[in-house]
Amino acid sequence: MSDVSTFGEPNPEGERLQKVMAASGVASRRVSEDLIAQGRVTVNGEIVEEPGRRVLPTDLITVDGTAIQTDTSKRYVMLNKPVGVVSSMADEGGRPDLTEFTRDYEERLFNVGRLDANTSGLLVLTNDGDLAHVLAHPSFGVSKTYIAKVTGSVSAQTIAKLTKGFDLEDGFIVADKARMLGAASGGASMVEITLHSGRNHIVRRMLDAVGHPVVELVRRQFGPLHLGSLAVGRTRDLTKVELGQILTLSRPHEQASGGGDDTGEEEDVEGD
Ligand code: URA
Repeated sequence: MSDVSTFGEPNPEGERLQKVMAASGVASRRVSEDLIAQGRVTVNGEIVEEPGRRVLPTDLITVDGTAIQTDTSKRYVMLNKPVGVVSSMADEGGRPDLTEFTRDYEERLFNVGRLDANTSGLLVLTNDGDLAHVLAHPSFGVSKTYIAKVTGSVSAQTIAKLTKGFDLEDGFIVADKARMLGAASGGASMVEITLHSGRNHIVRRMLDAVGHPVVELVRRQFGPLHLGSLAVGRTRDLTKVELGQILTLSRPHEQASGGGDDTGEEEDVEGD
C-alpha cells in the first residue's frame, strides 16, 4: 500500500512496539513503555512486557483489551445522515447521495451498511475496506438501536410481541429490546427498538406488521457508537476510544471465517 502508515517505510524486522503505539496516537512513547511494563499491552493475544519488542503492520495490538489502529492512513467518520439522502456514493437516479458529506475528506470514504433514504441517523463512513466488510457482513450482526415515531398508541402487548418475535414474509424476526418512550403529537407514539438484523427495511416492516406504521425513523446507535448530539447532516471523526471499540468488535471476525447465527440476511438497503 502506498499510503503513509504508523510503520512508514516497511522494515522487514518491524518497528518497536512503543514507537508504533505512540505514532498511532494511543499515548506518548514514555507512557506506552509504562503500559507495556504494566502488562497492559498484547500483541496477537500475548502479553508483551519487553518494550523493545518489534511488531509488524499485520500484528494485532491491544491496550487494556482494546485494539489500536496502527495504520494512520485509515479514516473513520460518523455521519448523521439526513432524510432524503440515499446510502450510496453515486446514485444512478441522480438523487442526493453521500458524496455531499465525503467530498471534503482527502480519503476516499464509503459507507458501512445502509439506511433507507427516508431514515436519518448514524452511518459510519471509512476507507477501511476490511472493517467495512466485517461490520456490514450479515453474519456479523452488529446491534443497532432506532427510535421510531409510529402511528397510534403502542400497547405493552405490542412491545412484548416485538421482543418475543414473529414471522415476516422473509422469516422469523425478533427485537433484542423494545420499549415505549412516550406519546407524540397527533396520537402517535415514540418507540425505541434494538436489533441485530440487517434485513431490508426491517424496522419499518416489523412495526407495520404489529399495526403501527413508521412515520419517522432515526438510527441512534450502531454497535458501541452513539449518535449523541451530532447534528443532522454533520460528520465527525470517531474518537480513539470509539475506534478501539469497533476494531475490538470486528477483529475476531476478521480472523475467523464467517460465524454468527444470523446468516443469509441482507444488510439494510435504502428504500425508494
Ligand atoms: N430498518 C428500516 O426499516 N430502515 C432502515 O433504514 C434501517 C433499518
